[in-house]
Amino acid sequence: MNGNREKVTVRVPATSANLGPGYDCLGLALSMYSEFTFEEAEDFSVTGCPEEFRNEDNLVLVAYRRAFGAAGKEPKPVKLSIEAGVPVARGLGSSSTCIAAGVLGADAFLGGCFSLEEKLRICTEMEGHPDNAAPALYGGLTASFMEEGKPFSVPFDCDPAWRFVAIIPDYEVHTAEARKAVPREMDISKSVYTTSHALAMVRALETGDEGLVGLAARDVLHEPYRKKLIPDYEVLRRLCLAAGAAAFLISGSGSTMLALTKQEDQAEELARAVEKAYPAFQVHVLRACQEGAKVLPA
Ligand code: HSE
Repeated sequence: MNGNREKVTVRVPATSANLGPGYDCLGLALSMYSEFTFEEAEDFSVTGCPEEFRNEDNLVLVAYRRAFGAAGKEPKPVKLSIEAGVPVARGLGSSSTCIAAGVLGADAFLGGCFSLEEKLRICTEMEGHPDNAAPALYGGLTASFMEEGKPFSVPFDCDPAWRFVAIIPDYEVHTAEARKAVPREMDISKSVYTTSHALAMVRALETGDEGLVGLAARDVLHEPYRKKLIPDYEVLRRLCLAAGAAAFLISGSGSTMLALTKQEDQAEELARAVEKAYPAFQVHVLRACQEGAKVLPA
């Protein structure tokens, strides 16, 4: 509380969707965060983001108002302050951070009226697919699916020893464009390949099996078509695998790529090597984040 005005800060983790063969299904929360503070005010306003997003169409505020609408209530005007640790349009779930924050912010002002499942439903309706929204809300590794228009999400353990070297290019890939690059139809043999690899991928992440993750991470559904949108993909893939990474993935729809290893030293060395070769890129050694979006203590 600040005087008579209520103030709520929500922290949401970055997420990596797909994890290779789990297109629109698998997702993992990572140890990179954005924070959103909502403070009761006379009118809606936004700070802490580029000028173009400082208006009532800001995705956080759209989600905030939508959640109030879902509860059948008039939204309270708020001053929104954003501290975005998760970069925009890089495949690390920045839109899910905004949507989850809006829903959790509204839920806090509404006294906690939504269940986790209801929050997932609102977030998924806005995003169109649950693979980022689920780990953003639940934390950890999730496998999600849609049934009769409703999202369901199944949590899995992720071996805490995994290190995810996130290589974030200095260029964006827009999800809409990356989705257009994926063929609309797929041969049954590729469907079997994809399902079987996605199941193995979950097991490899759970058990920390570096050999299995290298095989299971292979994808034929979207990565072969999307890598063309990331000009440095092939060079970085070769560099990371030659340096001993267990697997190399496109994070979400890109442009971020993830190199997986369980050796902390190797992760740091790999990060330094990539930074040296690509000084304009951001490189972070991340861990799985077990905790989903939450309201921070006042
Ligand atoms: N599953 C989505 C995709 C994640 O790959 O297009 C990005 O929003």
